[in-house]
Amino acid sequence: MPYDVLTMYGAILVWIAVWLRDARRGSYGPTVAVGIVLTLILNGRYLIDGAADSIAFFVSLYDVFDNLGLGATDTAPALATCADNACSLWGERYLQHSSWGVAFHERFSAGPAWRRTLLTVHLSCNSIVFALMHYQLARTGHGTHRTVHRLIGRASFALLTAGTLAAVLLAAEHGAVAAYGGDLAKYGFWFMSLCVYGCAVRGVWTIRSGDAELHRIWMVRFVGAMWGSFWLFRAMLVVTGPLLRQWETVSILCSIWLSAPAGIAIAEWLRRRWDQRAAASSVAMPRTALSHG
Ligand code: HEM
Repeated sequence: MPYDVLTMYGAILVWIAVWLRDARRGSYGPTVAVGIVLTLILNGRYLIDGAADSIAFFVSLYDVFDNLGLGATDTAPALATCADNACSLWGERYLQHSSWGVAFHERFSAGPAWRRTLLTVHLSCNSIVFALMHYQLARTGHGTHRTVHRLIGRASFALLTAGTLAAVLLAAEHGAVAAYGGDLAKYGFWFMSLCVYGCAVRGVWTIRSGDAELHRIWMVRFVGAMWGSFWLFRAMLVVTGPLLRQWETVSILCSIWLSAPAGIAIAEWLRRRWDQRAAASSVAMPRTALSHG
């Protein structure tokens, strides 16, 4: 039994319960805090166990869903097997896995060392930015926090640049990875990078021209793009994996192309709600995404 996979399922169920409670209260601080902790645990694993084992863990999280409703001899275009079943922690229980998962494992267990280095740079830099961006939203550049906000902002932008560049370089190879969708995956990941980095660049640009309000708007969109490209991307696969398994790459391509823009759209919708509420109650403009529903 892969107890760490089961523990992660348990943690995600607790997270959903926290989210439902927060939704009733209209304040999402605990949901965000648990999301950050889970992100750091999931991604920190790569630094401890290495890419091959961490990817096998990642693929195992989806095995249960990808095999849902299939008999022992059933198969589907979006499923594949991997050598010695090494891409999963479920042992004999699941012999078929998402074909993108098999390709992902092969790329980093057998590929060149520089590819693993790029992945480490990508996930380390983006995970740190993921945590810091919430601190930035909670402690805006007003009053006493101004200097710290500016320093963390600059460091985060440098880390984001390195993390995104690493992703762009990794994606440049995807034309040859049929199980991801080939060129459609390559351009999709570049589009995802554009969504995330584009919002960040607009955020920096606007504050440099002295427009604090537009800076806030673009940075909320940036946070949405980051949540989209990390959590929404992965959550979508749970649903689209079993639903779309008649087509080899449609499920993974949906996540690649849609997660970041959907994240931006959700963040924009939430921000407008906060701003409308603040305007209606004639209190100060909310400066934090963490304390308003
Ligand atoms: C700019 C948006 C993003 C792009 C374009 C992107 C792209 C990629 C690519 C290309 C891979 C490797 C797939 C391969 O080459 O086989 C990857 C994997 C990964 N990325 Fe990203 N990514 C983005 C955002 C993020 C964020 C925000 C985080 C962390 C908070 C993150 C963490 C990871 C992790 C941990 C993996 C390994 C798979 C896993 O265990 O989840 N990525 N990403």
